[in-house]
Amino acid sequence: MEKTNQTLLYAFEGFEKDLSEELSLGKARILEQQGRLFVVENLLARPVWAQACGYNAVRATPKSITESVKVLRDLGGKWACASQTRHRRSQLIQEQAYRPRPPQEIEFLGEVPTARWGLWALLDDQTLIASAETDSIFPLGEVRIKESEAPPSRAYMKLWELFTLHGIKPPPKSRTIDLGSSPGGWTWVLAEMGCQVLAVDKAPLAPHVAKNPLVKSLKKDAFKLVPTETGPIDWLFSDLICYPPKLFDLVGVWREAGVKNFVCTLKFQGRSDFESMARFLEIPGSWIVHLCANRHEVTWVCLEKGKN
Ligand SMILES: C[S@@+](CC[C@H](N)C(=O)[O-])C[C@H]1O[C@@H](n2cnc3c(N)ncnc32)[C@H](O)[C@@H]1O
Repeated sequence: MEKTNQTLLYAFEGFEKDLSEELSLGKARILEQQGRLFVVENLLARPVWAQACGYNAVRATPKSITESVKVLRDLGGKWACASQTRHRRSQLIQEQAYRPRPPQEIEFLGEVPTARWGLWALLDDQTLIASAETDSIFPLGEVRIKESEAPPSRAYMKLWELFTLHGIKPPPKSRTIDLGSSPGGWTWVLAEMGCQVLAVDKAPLAPHVAKNPLVKSLKKDAFKLVPTETGPIDWLFSDLICYPPKLFDLVGVWREAGVKNFVCTLKFQGRSDFESMARFLEIPGSWIVHLCANRHEVTWVCLEKGKN
């Protein structure tokens, strides 16, 4: 077994090119790529487009399935297989090293497991690569939160994931604004958490969300709304469909008006807009995450108290 300082990355499905570009921009060296699996060196920051990330990978050249199983068992812990090749052999190793169990779902705002899932893969018949030092509390970083049928859109899953797994939560009674709120998934989550919500969209909210006494809706173009019309806002949420530079300007208006906490989706068309991501990250207290519930978009968070 050889210890390395290589990192194993498992890209979000369909975003391999985005991860590859992100790594190049960050000057990381890609030693190998097989489908969603990347082996890299000189990684300076955790890539947004990686669903799972395993540091200080170990390489081994086991001669048999039994030897491969022994490598993983000796390293200890729970293992998830990221092999993009040698599928049958990988499956046999996985079953003997750590038998996959039915995926465990956590409740919204429920207790979050702390144990990490190791990441391993066969790169070819001879080479096994594995890292126990991952940031995955779910196998391969695939988030599983129990869903609800109450919200009117699946967009609510973005906030559920963010609030449950990233320790971010507007306290009850916070004055929030939800830009691009229709049909009301985010507004529903915020109101369920006891926040006051001003829901702004050109389209209506689902009636069962609109009738919540904590929700006020404003049928308006979010770019024409001026902060003096709304009264003080503690948290601004935006899931607006617009180009990131336009959203950046809009965020600037609300920052100038004194808003200090933001959760905004940056939506991309075609290539991911790394330039805009970098501009957003320059705002103090900011970070960006690609949630499992995000498709070709990322979530920018900016908190008055900074990152947890
Ligand atoms: C992805 S949907 C939002 C889904 C919502 N977060 C939810 O949880 O149900 C984007 C919304 O942005 C709204 N939108 C786009 N441009 C807008 C604008 N200029 N002003 C207000 N709303 C806008 C659309 O009408 C659409 O409802």
